[in-house]
Amino acid sequence: MAPYCADRWPVCSSNDRYRTADGSCNNFNNPLWGASITNQARFLSPSYDDQYNMGSVPRIRSVTGSLLPSPRDISNVVLNGGESPPRSRIFSESLTHLGQFINHDFISTPILKDGDNDIVCCNEDVPVDRPECFLFRTPPGDFQTTCMHFVRSDFGVAPGCPPESRNQINRFTSFLDLSVTYGSTLAKQNDLREFGTGRLQEGINRLLPTGPPGAECLAGEECFKSGDSRLSVTPMLTVVHTAFLREHNNINERLRALGWYDGEELRYEHVRATEVSDLALIHCIILPANPSTRNAFGCAAFRYGHSLVGSFVESFNQDFTPRAREPLEDHFFSTRSIRNFTTFGPDAIARWMTTQFKSRSDRFPDSYNQE
Ligand code: HEM
Repeated sequence: MAPYCADRWPVCSSNDRYRTADGSCNNFNNPLWGASITNQARFLSPSYDDQYNMGSVPRIRSVTGSLLPSPRDISNVVLNGGESPPRSRIFSESLTHLGQFINHDFISTPILKDGDNDIVCCNEDVPVDRPECFLFRTPPGDFQTTCMHFVRSDFGVAPGCPPESRNQINRFTSFLDLSVTYGSTLAKQNDLREFGTGRLQEGINRLLPTGPPGAECLAGEECFKSGDSRLSVTPMLTVVHTAFLREHNNINERLRALGWYDGEELRYEHVRATEVSDLALIHCIILPANPSTRNAFGCAAFRYGHSLVGSFVESFNQDFTPRAREPLEDHFFSTRSIRNFTTFGPDAIARWMTTQFKSRSDRFPDSYNQE
């Protein structure tokens, strides 16, 4: 296999002052550790149903050979919260969305696709028999159909293609390096920069720059772009992206006015490093310090954040009186509220996010706070 394996061996230099875009070269002996588009690591070895444990089929039988219960049955029993947890008395709403932003800095797990097209796993009630689909039974009445559309994650190979079980890929760097703002590849980084000034591109009204149509925002709306395409999942997440973009440009302006870090490349990299160290400080407060992303982090542990999400998006006036409040479900993947400065806009949403207590977490991701 080795001759057919893609050879990716970055050339690292100990003279480099700043981190690479793709996270390579943080460890000179293992330059791909934590780099973007490498395999996710594991805490425990996998255990699948297939004879050679290659992970070609997901695990549906127990060690005795009997069928395991449907994952949907288990999640209904274990995760169905019913009641919402009370509000925190310590942390504000912004912590929830900063948490999602940090998770998007560490991990992006791609799922399998059919070329550029999404894979369809159910034709109404009828499961589509494709190896990319993980089909499991759902209890009657749980959904409108009994087939649950579930596409498996894409899988990668380790350098040299050693025989090993199937592993998910991390599209992004495993380091807390603000690749969520700056991009996880040099090409993406360059796409977001404003060359000649050291700044990041900004859109009108100090918003994020406009992205290509259909870039993970609702059809017919003008999308934004940043280092991560998931930036418009909620308006609050877009607010955090906007804050880091503006902060880069604010620091850049201050340094330029002082005449420090002359030369736009040097200033751009210095501001990038400054912003990363700001985020690393937050990281010390809310996460353990090991930056390598394990698959259990993305598929289980850090999804605790889904329990924190409230049911509304709100905005406050400059005197911190309430201005607008709408159900969050009307704003998923929408840029509408961010662009409308009369009702919402990033600054008015940020005033609400930073002054109101967030929902506490429990183990029930569905218990969105109804207050
Ligand atoms: C309303 C807000 C949110 C929505 C709509 C949302 C939605 C999603 C969706 C659709 C996925 C990918 C689908 C899947 O693999 O199951 C996902 C993945 C994930 N979410 Fe959220 N999420 C939200 C907030 C949060 C927050 C606040 C956190 C943590 C603080 C979080 C942590 C994660 C993690 C760790 C993943 C896995 C990422 C990956 O492996 O690529 N999410 N979320």
